[in-house]
Amino acid sequence: MQRSDYTAANLRAWDQAAPVHSRHRLDQWLTEFSQPGWSCLDEVATGLLRGIGLRGRVVAQPCCNNGRELISIANLGASHCLGFDVSAAFLEQARQLSDVAHAPCEFLQTDVYAIPNRFDRCADLVYISIGSLGWMPDLPAFLDVVRRLLRPEGWLAMYEMHPMLGMFDNEEQDPPPLRHSYFRREPFVETDGLDYWEGTRYESPPTYWFQHTLGDIVGGVLDHGFRLHSFREYDHDISGAFAYMDRLTVRPPLCFTLTAQLGGDG
Ligand SMILES: C[S@@+](CC[C@H](N)C(=O)[O-])C[C@H]1O[C@@H](n2cnc3c(N)ncnc32)[C@H](O)[C@@H]1O
Repeated sequence: MQRSDYTAANLRAWDQAAPVHSRHRLDQWLTEFSQPGWSCLDEVATGLLRGIGLRGRVVAQPCCNNGRELISIANLGASHCLGFDVSAAFLEQARQLSDVAHAPCEFLQTDVYAIPNRFDRCADLVYISIGSLGWMPDLPAFLDVVRRLLRPEGWLAMYEMHPMLGMFDNEEQDPPPLRHSYFRREPFVETDGLDYWEGTRYESPPTYWFQHTLGDIVGGVLDHGFRLHSFREYDHDISGAFAYMDRLTVRPPLCFTLTAQLGGDG
């Protein structure tokens, strides 16, 4: 399959998931975001972004989903936020949430690999979070896009699922058995839906999820002209899909943060 075939296949499953997610959470988010300054970001994400500084900054988020993180970033002080996602159905929810929050957010439906060049050097900060990298069949090409979105000396902040999670299936055993190679290259193909909020299963079009090791991620960031500023690992689940791991006796790393800055010549 070509890169665009994976995106097209995943899009079918994301558009199908949008009403499922909205049934569970949209009313709650509409209420929360109608409160001035409301943020869904946890302490780790908030500290990470505040550490870089948001006030007056333009922030871009590829794979923004329903915009809940980006609207929160606007509420924390960013001057303008740009969200990119392939799913029109999720972006419709993003616009609803942004409207009730009166947030300075703009959302564009696009495959991230095809973000138009008019957005080159538009952002002071690109935020990559919770379940974005795994949808990317080609990580170096994705990082090319991140780099071109950023102005010279712009920042990249990541708060992502740890790639060690790719070694486990969702079997809720303590300890969880290792099932897959950390270095797996073929995508995980699933057909049981994308309801990571409530964990309901339903028949879905096939989804394609890609394993990227920490070496791929951190090495890729360095190879793209960024200076690494911080890197940390944590033992709490941010995905919803591996929530049971928060209760394990002995936990693997479950998520990580990274911040990096582009050189002065972009
Ligand atoms: C797990 S969700 C992100 C959730 C978000 N971080 C949050 O916590 O609310 C992943 C998103 O990536 C989007 N996506 C997947 N592949 C994409 C692509 N090639 N281009 C743009 N968006 C993509 C999906 O539509 C989905 O909204």
